[in-house]
Amino acid sequence: MASKTHFMTKTVREYVAAHSARPDALLEELRAVTGRETMFRMQVGPEQGAFLSLLVKLLGARRAIEIGTFTGYSAICIARSLGPGGTLLACDVSEEWTAVAREFWRRAGLADRIQLALAPALGTLDRLITDGRAGSFDFAFIDADKENYDAYYERCLTLIRPAGLIVFDNVLWSGAVADKKDRSASTVALRALNDKLVADARVDVSMVPIGDGMTLALKK
Ligand SMILES: C[S@@+](CC[C@H](N)C(=O)[O-])C[C@H]1O[C@@H](n2cnc3c(N)ncnc32)[C@H](O)[C@@H]1O
Repeated sequence: MASKTHFMTKTVREYVAAHSARPDALLEELRAVTGRETMFRMQVGPEQGAFLSLLVKLLGARRAIEIGTFTGYSAICIARSLGPGGTLLACDVSEEWTAVAREFWRRAGLADRIQLALAPALGTLDRLITDGRAGSFDFAFIDADKENYDAYYERCLTLIRPAGLIVFDNVLWSGAVADKKDRSASTVALRALNDKLVADARVDVSMVPIGDGMTLALKK
């Protein structure tokens, strides 16, 4: 039987956030700047950012990929936890949003650690595989168009090494995945991926109800 999480009210979620992420002036400024754009909800929350930082550190990751960068918040959380000489390849299609990201990466002193691939991510990942980079990454974060999550997963599984980690954001999709009546394309894609991951013998998984839900998939 699933454990009880009915205590996760908005107040408790805010409490969790306040006790996960330490105050960070630059990230707070980035959140505020992004908030002026209409789509600030796309950004991971502070507690998710802290979680990503911790995972990257735990893994001792030096080579990371991010699919869906937006204004650069999660990229900062990942890049600053990478080991010595570490690099993050950040994939996005938006020149406008990633211009904000580049400015904040520069100010965070991370410009030399983050490389931006401004193109549809499937093509970027396929090119990495063709270029012989299979098995050379430690960590992948998937947070772009939901209908392509499974395609991103299969490519990331090729690109990361055994015992490397893939993290997916928005796996709960505001709870819609558990509502069988919701047949929207993104919900259907996420629900199918969640079903696939829990049964996939190539990985060990844990779905964590943080933010809009994050699944960790550790490659065997
Ligand atoms: C939810 S946002 C990413 C948020 C980011 N991880 C953060 O925490 O700030 C999704 C991003 O995916 C990008 N995106 C959408 N389709 C894409 C594609 N086919 N290839 C690469 N990026 C894509 C969008 O431009 C958008 O910036």
